[in-house]
Amino acid sequence: PKAGPAVHLHLQQLTPLLSLSRFKMSIYQKTAFFIKGRLQFTNGGYAKAAKSFHPEDTKKDVSDQVFMVTGANSGLGKAAAIAIAKNGGEVHMVCRNLERANQAKEDIVKESGNSNITVHVLDISNTKEVYEFAKNFSSNHEKLNVLVNNAGCMVNDRKTTEVGNLELNFATNTVGTYVLTQELVPLLLKSTKPRVITVSSGGMYTQKLNVKDLQSEKGTFSGDMAYAQQKRQQVILTEEWAKMHPDIHFSAMHPGWADTPAVRTSMPGFYEYMKDNLRTAEQGADTIVWLSVSDAALAQPSGLFFLDRKAVPTHLALAWTRESAEDRNTFLTKIAEIANQFK
Ligand SMILES: NC(=O)c1ccc[n+]([C@@H]2O[C@H](COP(=O)([O-])OP(=O)(O)OC[C@H]3O[C@@H](n4cnc5c(N)ncnc54)[C@H](OP(=O)(O)O)[C@@H]3O)[C@@H](O)[C@H]2O)c1
Repeated sequence: PKAGPAVHLHLQQLTPLLSLSRFKMSIYQKTAFFIKGRLQFTNGGYAKAAKSFHPEDTKKDVSDQVFMVTGANSGLGKAAAIAIAKNGGEVHMVCRNLERANQAKEDIVKESGNSNITVHVLDISNTKEVYEFAKNFSSNHEKLNVLVNNAGCMVNDRKTTEVGNLELNFATNTVGTYVLTQELVPLLLKSTKPRVITVSSGGMYTQKLNVKDLQSEKGTFSGDMAYAQQKRQQVILTEEWAKMHPDIHFSAMHPGWADTPAVRTSMPGFYEYMKDNLRTAEQGADTIVWLSVSDAALAQPSGLFFLDRKAVPTHLALAWTRESAEDRNTFLTKIAEIANQFK
């Protein structure tokens, strides 16, 4: 990234971040990632990028469209659901906790004036239930225009799911996203120009696809490293889905660094250090909404990675994070095998 004169990033400022991070990556990757983050992922980065937004892009009547947002009870998912509901969309909230979901639904209806909001309870880390949910939803609904894969987690201790014994972050971020998307493809294809948006993370810049340890079984477990690896996997899945399903518009995106419960609880040190520079949930969700409703997003090729309404590279320069074609194929084979066990 080009450091402009307005950016005064001193080593002293960077040091706490470097020590906070437990990402296993080279000093170069780490430094490049945090400089990029300071410049682009903060509220300042958003304010700068927003100068070139076209506000009318996200003010669109979508009252004839059906949206599904996972993790819509909190943070970015809730902010995206509110914005979509304000545009008249029918919103299906997919959440794991009924009470939290109903409370959020009340807020969404109140803020948007749109009562066409439905709660579905699903723990996305339970792969078997994801299959069942997608099957039932597809039987009971005539269409789904837009799927937003937003639910995600960074659990800092290695835990496994009760059903299937999958590492919990992997089950949620990768397997849940994979199965939900694959199983909803036939329903999505009943609409013209359906879209799938997957909320990844800039953390993925620090990771090269690692097909040898998808479930983080080797070495010392690091939740943030597992999370970043899975966010890389989501970007790869998005690229592959775009090739496999040319009639669906797939995008992955990075919300920047936003003040949400996940950041406060999973990365308390990072939150403390960055709290004055974090985006609001609405700012973080802006590109989710833009990708979900705007014509401008559809004009972009399918399969890209976005930050602040712009397609951006999926690797940092010189970061050595590009996987081989062989590793990519191995990943696709392995994820299909893992998912199929639960069918
Ligand atoms: N905030 C950021 O700076 C940032 C940066 C990069 C990427 N992201 C990504 O943005 C997405 C949204 O996160 P957020 O920051 O908005 O945090 P958040 O407010 O904590 O929202 C996360 C949502 O995912 C849900 N969820 C987690 N595990 C689930 C499961 N097994 N089944 C169903 N739902 C589940 C949570 O449900 P509960 O409320 O029940 O826990 C919550 O609704 C995530 O994918 C995250 O990785 C965020």
